[in-house]
Amino acid sequence: MMKKALKTKVENALRKIHDPESGQDIISAGMVSGLQVANGRALFAIEVDPARGNEMESLRQQSEQAVKSVRGIKHVTAALTARRTEQSAAAASSAAPSSASSVTSSNGAAHADPHGMEKNPRLSLPIKHIIAVASGKGGVGKSTIAVNLAVALAEAGYKTGLLDADIYGPSAPRMLGLPNEKPDLNDQKQLIPHEAHGLKVMSIGFMIEEEKPMIWRGPMVQSAIYQMLRDVVWGKQDDMLDILVVDMPPGTGDAQLTMAQKVPLSGAVIVSTPQDIALLDARRGLAMFEKVDVPVIGMIENMSTFKCPHCDHESHIFGHGGAKEEAANLHCDFLCEIPLTLDIREQSDAGNPVLAQGAVFKSVAQKVADYLRDKDE
Ligand SMILES: Nc1ncnc2c1ncn2[C@@H]1O[C@H](COP(=O)(O)OP(=O)(O)O)[C@@H](O)[C@H]1O
Ligand SMILES: [Mg+2]
Repeated sequence: MMKKALKTKVENALRKIHDPESGQDIISAGMVSGLQVANGRALFAIEVDPARGNEMESLRQQSEQAVKSVRGIKHVTAALTARRTEQSAAAASSAAPSSASSVTSSNGAAHADPHGMEKNPRLSLPIKHIIAVASGKGGVGKSTIAVNLAVALAEAGYKTGLLDADIYGPSAPRMLGLPNEKPDLNDQKQLIPHEAHGLKVMSIGFMIEEEKPMIWRGPMVQSAIYQMLRDVVWGKQDDMLDILVVDMPPGTGDAQLTMAQKVPLSGAVIVSTPQDIALLDARRGLAMFEKVDVPVIGMIENMSTFKCPHCDHESHIFGHGGAKEEAANLHCDFLCEIPLTLDIREQSDAGNPVLAQGAVFKSVAQKVADYLRDKDE
């Protein structure tokens, strides 16, 4: 079937859903945004007044059902996003990001939003600490480090979760040997995270199909990340998760900034390789977290040295020590250097991150845990 015709059918199905407040159908009311239809999959956002967020969940479900009943559609993802008023949209493009202090009450209702940046309120979650693992660019080993750090924290006895929020290249399913399956729902319609290596795991990779790269628009990124925090059973108020490690999307653009703002982060770990270019990116990452008042726990230099498996000779492929110097320049802690080794590569790519560099990750986990404990005191 022609793509366009299918999209029209989806829109027509959505015209049967009415906003209870205005009585208008949600297409005519302009509430549906970012509709994409491809390969039997439909994805869209419903823009609502954030104050009505809770009551709109049933609207979201009705919309999903309506689209699911369209012939040719197999999967539907509908996300609620906060409606952007024209005024706030204009302000958002020029305003500097607001800091953590101007945000929300714990019941999730948004306060006045002079900068138009509070599309979704910051969250109050059953998680003691959320830390981000970030890098200025892809391919530096951010996911490898996020996964191994999380496993090491779990082994050290912390209740630990891993949120793979890298919309451009989710890798937790592969690295932890988990299938790309949508998690089950509990009675409250919350997603139950998968478990592997002692971790609770949620990945954008469980929610989308791997083979087709998605085109993400700002509001969708926000909704997806928001849902993976709010609608996942990470813990309970009386049995909280100790630490959630977030594998951030690489880079320092809008998606990253949004995450850094919306997620109540206790701190960030920045991963870099020793090359100058990567370091420049790392500097940008650091600046980004500073901008949103998230402390940087420290920097990790990955692929630091290469030890030949045959003769044990150590060579410095990308140069060496750059990140350490950079960390000193930037007055930020240097956590560790991780050598380039075949076992890290083979094991993490085979879904079995059993700590090739166990001692190194153990010590990083210790440093991170100490940092968080000091923060609590
Ligand atoms: N220290 C290391 N030694 C060997 N291979 C590594 C190391 N760190 C990462 N890799 C490999 O490099 C590739 C990219 O790493 P990944 O963690 O996916 O990077 P990113 O998340 O930054 O894009 C993967 O194949 C991974 O196994
Ligand atoms: Mg990655």
